[in-house]
Amino acid sequence: MASLLIKNGTIVTATKTLKGDIIVNNGKIEKITRDSESFSGNIKTIDASGKYIFPGGVDPHVHMHLKTSAGYSSDDFISGSKAALFGGTTTLIDFVTPERGQSIIEAVNNRKVEAENCLTDYTFHVSPVEWTENTSEELNWCIIKEGIPSFKIYMAYKSSIGLEDEEIRKVMEVIAKSGGTLAVHCEMGDAIDVLHSIFASEGRLNSKYHAFSRPAYLESEAVKTALKLAGDTGCTLYIVHVSAADSLSYIRQAQSMGQKVFAETCPQYLLLDKSKYLGNFREVAPYIMSPPLRKPEDNQALWKAIADNTIQSVGTDHCPFTMEQKKLGKDDFRKIPNGAGGVEHRLELLYTFGVLTNRISLNRLVEITSTNPAKIFGLYPKKGEIAVGSDADIVIWNPDRGKIISAKTHHQNSDINIYEGIEIKGSPEYVIKDGKVIIEKGKMINDDIKGKFLKVDSGINS
Ligand code: URP
Ligand code: ZN
Ligand code: ZN
Repeated sequence: MASLLIKNGTIVTATKTLKGDIIVNNGKIEKITRDSESFSGNIKTIDASGKYIFPGGVDPHVHMHLKTSAGYSSDDFISGSKAALFGGTTTLIDFVTPERGQSIIEAVNNRKVEAENCLTDYTFHVSPVEWTENTSEELNWCIIKEGIPSFKIYMAYKSSIGLEDEEIRKVMEVIAKSGGTLAVHCEMGDAIDVLHSIFASEGRLNSKYHAFSRPAYLESEAVKTALKLAGDTGCTLYIVHVSAADSLSYIRQAQSMGQKVFAETCPQYLLLDKSKYLGNFREVAPYIMSPPLRKPEDNQALWKAIADNTIQSVGTDHCPFTMEQKKLGKDDFRKIPNGAGGVEHRLELLYTFGVLTNRISLNRLVEITSTNPAKIFGLYPKKGEIAVGSDADIVIWNPDRGKIISAKTHHQNSDINIYEGIEIKGSPEYVIKDGKVIIEKGKMINDDIKGKFLKVDSGINS
């Protein structure tokens, strides 16, 4: 017996736009039809006339409850996933970041406990933060036993979690052999540390120096190194939060040579620029993130790279902090926690500034925010698709209902919103997860939900 009927909407997938009614049963899409009359009656029916129907968003890059020297990022898995749902995102990919000296297995198990109240479905990228005699075995354990074939290494943050190039090579060799994917934070960590020391010795510790200490060429040089190592080892690469035009040239070149490399950017690198670093501490601190915001020319280059498929995925790098936490670095930018929230705004920002400005089509919006992240990380077609058999994670999009973004009204747990005052058009009218209506007319009507940990079948026999 069907549980939900969505009638008269325009279904938008990565490849198709069609009129059709969706019948949901047992948390899955059971049927897509032009003739749903025999199903109406005593099942919940939503009239989606004038609305678009998207597969639920998949955000491949969020940091809920991330431990930092300024305390945890201010969204935990409950508040962060609630904000995600309000924005039309029904699947999150977060991270497992062990302490050096801690086993990856222990860190994965602990993280699963931290995430167990997540309202959306979720999985992780696992970060090796050092190379030890156990790393190879632990990475294979993640893939084979845990169903986590995605990893992430940091080329920055060398003193805590960043890896040396030779360690990266070893990690890549293991992942290449086992068929996983390696996400990489590309910034040359040693060079950044040198700039930090020089700036400190010259007393240049004002918040604006954060961006000067992380110039674009240190990102693009790291991209070049990561591509070379991945090419040598045959490892599939996913370059996170690309912010600089020069990085795109290297990525484009590698892709044209047939290298398996995917690229991600984030709304902040498409829509905001380094002018945010002009001002006093309170004005600048919200935008302290790594990599930092770049020039307007970089924004334009990133939009072009989405259009020409150099970039396949848009995540948020959601990592919010409160102003109180940011203040820890008031007199020394090196102590400002890096990161900003955005999980709630990804779809509405890309719809407003991508689709409505004709930079991307509606299908491309769906592809970069849902279908491609699901495909790249092994979640497709359960996630990222409107098709018979897919999970009934569905967004009914009202193209007309807009708002002004503000920390006063958002659901992210922070008094900061980096998109404060921006007017958007279009928003999720209904958000459906596992066939249950969670958001209705922009209000959460059901928070008694629990997300699932998504195990990816590696196809390798254990
Ligand atoms: O500034 C950022 N991006 N913070 C979150 C951690 C990371 O580097 O992705
Ligand atoms: Zn990063
Ligand atoms: Zn991140």
